[in-house]
Amino acid sequence: MKLLSKIALFGAFTLCNLLGADQKIEAQIEELLSQMTLEEKVRMCHAQSKFSAAGVSRIGVPELWLSDGPHGVRPEIAWDSWSHAGWTNDFCTAFPALTCLAATFNPELSYEYGVALGEESLYREKDIILGPGVNIYRTPLNGRNFEYMGEDPYLASQMVVPYVQGVQSNGVAACVKHLVLNNQEHWRHEVNVEISERALREIYLPAFKAAIVEGGAWSVMGAYNLFRGQHCCHNELLLNHILKDEWGFDGIVVSDWGGTYDTTEAALYGLDLEMGTGTNGLTFSEDNAYDNYYLALPFLDKIKKGEISESVLDDKVRRLLRLRLRTNMDRSRGFGRMMCEDHSRVARSVATEGMVLLKNENDFFPLDAGASITIAVIGENATRMMTIGGGSSELKAKYEISPLEGIQKRFKNAKIVHSMGYGSGESDYDVVLPSPYDAEALKKDALEVAANADFVLFFGGLNKSHNQDCEGADRLQLGLPFGQDELITDLLKVNPNMAVLLISGNAVEMPWIDEVAAIFQVWYLGSETGYAIADVLSGDVTPSGKLPFTFPKKLEDNPAHRFGEKSYPGIDHEQEYMEDIFVGYRGHDEFGIEPLFPFGFGLSYTDFEISDVTVDDSEIAIDGNIRLRCKLTNTGPVKGAETVQVYVGKSNSKVKRVKKALKGFKKVSVDAGESELVTVTIPVKDLAYYETASKSWVVETGDYRLWVGNSSASGMSKTFRVK
Ligand code: GLC
Repeated sequence: MKLLSKIALFGAFTLCNLLGADQKIEAQIEELLSQMTLEEKVRMCHAQSKFSAAGVSRIGVPELWLSDGPHGVRPEIAWDSWSHAGWTNDFCTAFPALTCLAATFNPELSYEYGVALGEESLYREKDIILGPGVNIYRTPLNGRNFEYMGEDPYLASQMVVPYVQGVQSNGVAACVKHLVLNNQEHWRHEVNVEISERALREIYLPAFKAAIVEGGAWSVMGAYNLFRGQHCCHNELLLNHILKDEWGFDGIVVSDWGGTYDTTEAALYGLDLEMGTGTNGLTFSEDNAYDNYYLALPFLDKIKKGEISESVLDDKVRRLLRLRLRTNMDRSRGFGRMMCEDHSRVARSVATEGMVLLKNENDFFPLDAGASITIAVIGENATRMMTIGGGSSELKAKYEISPLEGIQKRFKNAKIVHSMGYGSGESDYDVVLPSPYDAEALKKDALEVAANADFVLFFGGLNKSHNQDCEGADRLQLGLPFGQDELITDLLKVNPNMAVLLISGNAVEMPWIDEVAAIFQVWYLGSETGYAIADVLSGDVTPSGKLPFTFPKKLEDNPAHRFGEKSYPGIDHEQEYMEDIFVGYRGHDEFGIEPLFPFGFGLSYTDFEISDVTVDDSEIAIDGNIRLRCKLTNTGPVKGAETVQVYVGKSNSKVKRVKKALKGFKKVSVDAGESELVTVTIPVKDLAYYETASKSWVVETGDYRLWVGNSSASGMSKTFRVK
């Protein structure tokens, strides 16, 4: 480095020491930027390999390394292919999928989750972990719903903020994805979504806004789909006006892999780091090698010709430097931890708190862990690995305890008899192939095992294969695949003392719901699956999970499927979200359709009573807070936790509004026979609707109604007035 540069650099760092942290970073950015050549700056704006981007080693700016995914650090991928690199030191802790995290309704636990994931990312020397995903659960057919946080923007917002803060407390950037309207996998690269401004602002953007404005996320990933005719990875309204101008986002926008389509749009419409564009990487070829990325030589060429201002490039590079100074150039950053007991504990806590008890006739659960009984454990999902597959969120877990293994280890005096019951088939281009197994033989064995057991536990649901809970395609039906419904019905005939445990990230139909004694929505629980399931089935842990999305009785009851093909999956790659703001329970309320199980629903092994509901003031100022108090009493036999949920609706609104929307919740643990006073505070500003004409949030004065209960379909109501 020339003497002059050394003096300048020394001067900059001396200056930095006199400034605050952020000011230091900004001063360092300017110093580094001033030393970079045009070519060096452009090279920072695009990939150099499948999961890395170039730095500027000449002046000490390191490369940037990214990795999936939202619930664990993906196994190392090869330099320039989607293959695994074949390392032997890239195992991880598989944390429960984010639907399970959302089902805990426990923001504190979400922070712990983020810290643990951030530590594992740091240990693997990743600067950006490509998660969390917060796309709204609009249709139960979306292959990637398992990766996201459900149908309600308030729940997703409350859960994503601590997750981001936890990850970034390690000096690793969270990357909130996929901005925006990537609510299905069908045609994900091509579909253009049209949607009202209110639905965009009130339903689909809030969790992203919370992650950035409250969570301080350092990176965001653009979605593959188009929004109002422009690709989300370079979308002027979305990225320049909303994300960067309105929300003040100072981090980087990363494209989804292969989500970039045009140099000028990418340069001018908010993309900062282009990843995954088609290339063979190693040679300069017509396959679009890295130098041929849209933000590579074509970008450099346009700048040199004066077609694009260098200031456009400098803004990107400032953001890319800022991200490095917050991560791999932060000398105070630690080294992280991998697969430690703390991480296993977090994984197990999220798993046990996220499982949702949907039915429990005659207290089928908990089972006596010490009894000498015969338990039939039936179903492919009792043993099937679920940490692999599913697409980019795949993991190479150091361990994954199966449901069967967990039950065998916990119910030591019981005779556990396993039978596969059914086998799944792979699918090819949206056609689910028949299972390679002899279905009749599997069923025959399962029926015999069930007939000779005291209790039958059926582990079914979906899996991480194509057309199931998997990236790249949607499900083909709401019902369970692989003949499970028929098998469940036949098993019930030989032994009605049976529970169904659904391992999935999505709602399913339940034609056998009246005959089966108990039902658990189990989710994808990761490494600790079997231990967590045994904790809950044995009563060591009382279930407290609540559904983060509605279970419809049939597909057409779901609002996204109420308005025909244009609404889902679209026609000729053009789609309109015709249910508008009436997503999930909002739509079930609006259209008067009773769900199979409502959003926010979940049973316990004990009973709770919510009473003495009061609102501090019957009249509240428009800039004030609604303070709701109630008494939560555990009237049942064991300690448990209940989530008090507060939904609010506007009477006689001047605009079309949902009947009620979740605006507050609190999860409280209460000993048997005890009571706790619960307070939920809701800022009046949170009751605003988005007024399209004025492009602003408007709080109406007048009468409101609130509901306090333990799901979106229950609760006593109170009225109050905003003046
Ligand atoms: C995938 C996914 C995205 C992932 C990225 C890298 O296509 O859409 O979520 O982070 O590419 O694997």
